[in-house]
Amino acid sequence: MLKTRKYKMITMQLIYKGAEAELWETQYLGFPVVVKRRIRKTYRIKQIDERIRKNRTRREAVMLAEARGCVNTPFVLSVDLKENTIIMQYLEGKTLKQLFLEGYKNKKKTSTEIGRMIKKLHDKGVIHGDLTTSNMIKTRKGIHFIDFGLSYKSDKTEDKAVDLLVFKKMLKSTHWKDFEEIWGAFKQGYGDETVLSKVEEIEKRARYA
Ligand SMILES: Nc1ncnc2c1ncn2[C@@H]1O[C@H](COP(=O)(O)OP(=O)(O)O)[C@@H](O)[C@H]1O
Ligand SMILES: [Mg+2]
Repeated sequence: MLKTRKYKMITMQLIYKGAEAELWETQYLGFPVVVKRRIRKTYRIKQIDERIRKNRTRREAVMLAEARGCVNTPFVLSVDLKENTIIMQYLEGKTLKQLFLEGYKNKKKTSTEIGRMIKKLHDKGVIHGDLTTSNMIKTRKGIHFIDFGLSYKSDKTEDKAVDLLVFKKMLKSTHWKDFEEIWGAFKQGYGDETVLSKVEEIEKRARYA
């Protein structure tokens, strides 16, 4: 007699809808995953839009794997460059943005830790390109970095400094109450004076430009 199997209905739940992408939580081979799909931007010329979405999707998949050698990133299970979709491991946890805004007590320690991690990424020549506290997720296993669509490879001090400046500006606007504490601890963890003084130099340059 044939045995019948009952398959659970697989559901997809929208967890995030941003300007660039939609993220869905679902299951893939019984594994909790996130499907990140870059959506069409109608204000861009169609061909250009397709190229941008494809490039960012490819870049994100490649760099998530590249960065994985030195920091935690979600495991990539599948990439579809026709649909501009990446299927990656679902990270159970909270973003650092959420934690910091909730008044997380380990803010200082965590900021030093992310400073150390970004220094490791930079030492490997990986510039993240969009360092924000929304792009860092804390799980039981530690801090993970996500959202590598704007990342690239470079060993230049200037590129590393610009990467940090994006983060600094973001902290000033989103975490303004705790800015000094977070940025101070972050710098301690990062610890590379050459890059950190370049950050200040670029800021000054921008101010007097
Ligand atoms: N692998 C993941 N596991 C769990 N949540 C995720 C994962 N990737 C992204 N997210 C959530 O979705 C949000 C948006 O994802 P992100 O890749 O940063 O997209 P965007 O490029 O639009 O910023 C993140 O801030 C995070 O809250
Ligand atoms: Mg993001």
